[in-house]
Amino acid sequence: MTPMRRLPIGILGSGKGSNCRAILERVRSGDLAAEPRLVVSDVLDAPILYIAREFGVANAYLPPGRFRTRLEPKIEEQLVQMLRDAGVELVVLAGFMRVLHEPMLTAFPRRVINIHPSLLPKFAGLEAWKQALVAGETVTGCTVHYVDQRIDHGQILAQKEVGILPNDTAESLHARIQVAEHELYAAVIAGFCEKYGEASQQVDK
Ligand code: GRF
Repeated sequence: MTPMRRLPIGILGSGKGSNCRAILERVRSGDLAAEPRLVVSDVLDAPILYIAREFGVANAYLPPGRFRTRLEPKIEEQLVQMLRDAGVELVVLAGFMRVLHEPMLTAFPRRVINIHPSLLPKFAGLEAWKQALVAGETVTGCTVHYVDQRIDHGQILAQKEVGILPNDTAESLHARIQVAEHELYAAVIAGFCEKYGEASQQVDK
């Protein structure tokens, strides 16, 4: 049998990093055949960078430049280079608050994935759990999808439902969605690891 190789991944995030932690914990416990090579944040003191350090994963702050919702194109090129230098083959967005564009999406075609706290295409955008609550939904959840140039758009890879309880607050609902996110994201990444983890099947660049 061909020996399994651990799939080199990079994680991008802007915030608290609970999805990143969940991934790194599963890698540490041997439940996920990924090899986290690099964690990058556009926020200098983002907790996600401290989580990377806690787990001994290389990490970097990438000053985003002058735009609010995207990286400056030159900086996005730098990001591509950083990820390539680290040998990353799958880019995992975990609360990364900037829209990626051509440099990243061309460099990593169908190799950039995101997780969103709703059952897309419903409730794209910010605070999706609040949107679901306000809309009077009884079920919401989370979605993992390929990233394209539109916000919370791109082919859906997997979804997990979370029921909305009569007494739910935005906080209680969000907390349950995050538990579901941690399971779903690990499962989807495990699928990539299985598909591309054989030594002879390097991810095409
Ligand atoms: C998650 O809810 C994810 O769905 C969204 O951003 C949030 C990141 O949370 N894209 P965390 O930083 O992983 O805790």
